[in-house]
Amino acid sequence: MTENIVDTAFFHSWFRNYVESFYTEDPELQQNIRLKEEHTLRVCNEIRRLGKALNLNRTELRLAETIALFHDIGRFEQITTYGTFDDRVSENHATLGLKVLKATDILSRLTKTEQTIVYNAIEYHNVRKVPDNGDELMELHTKLIRDADKLDIWYVVTNYYTERHRHRNPALELELPDTPEYSLCFVDDLLNNRVSNTHELKTFNDMKLLQLGWIFDINFTPTFLYIQERRIIEKIIIALPDTEDIRKIQNHLNDYLENRISETPRDY
Ligand SMILES: [Fe+2]
Repeated sequence: MTENIVDTAFFHSWFRNYVESFYTEDPELQQNIRLKEEHTLRVCNEIRRLGKALNLNRTELRLAETIALFHDIGRFEQITTYGTFDDRVSENHATLGLKVLKATDILSRLTKTEQTIVYNAIEYHNVRKVPDNGDELMELHTKLIRDADKLDIWYVVTNYYTERHRHRNPALELELPDTPEYSLCFVDDLLNNRVSNTHELKTFNDMKLLQLGWIFDINFTPTFLYIQERRIIEKIIIALPDTEDIRKIQNHLNDYLENRISETPRDY
């Protein structure tokens, strides 16, 4: 029991030191480093909350938190080296993260099985489709980080959409043009319950539609409840143009959310 507590605390302090080594006088870069540092710590909270709602045991909770803490460890090197969070024009941040973890051997205090679970969950935390691998525990942890990560990205972007007129951050917009247009393939995907492909992104509005579509990739009932409580759909919709397509999407997504919540018994 003591060992569990020590491990998570040790990982947290390693993480803090690691991130601090990237701190810089450059205000824009520093802002982005802090953004990912704070994101990581909030994802740790999200995953603990979700894990508890799902009645995970202490070992599973500890492992889930370790995954959350390290899932974006590649972001710091990415933004420092390339000046962007856009994997398409830099490097896959999950792969970069695995390199960091392996080079530092920070996970050596976990068992081999645990290490494999952590590496696997990080590798697949950002892919469009997770390959089936048949290992239940591995699947559980991959699903947990994918839900917890999305919850916090939604938190970040919905805040950003309301604050944006005061302070813009191009790194959060992937340098996409902020024009009134959106691509119809994103509308089509949303109305057919599909997660869109990042490679189709053409405008900033497309990115908002892509973020709405992550709802089809959510795994656990408590996550659907958080989405509803936090009014994520409405907060993204309000940042989009007021058109017939967008109104259709809003109704469709709210129906989908209602169904996903009501189809599962409350005692998950
Ligand atoms: Fe993340």
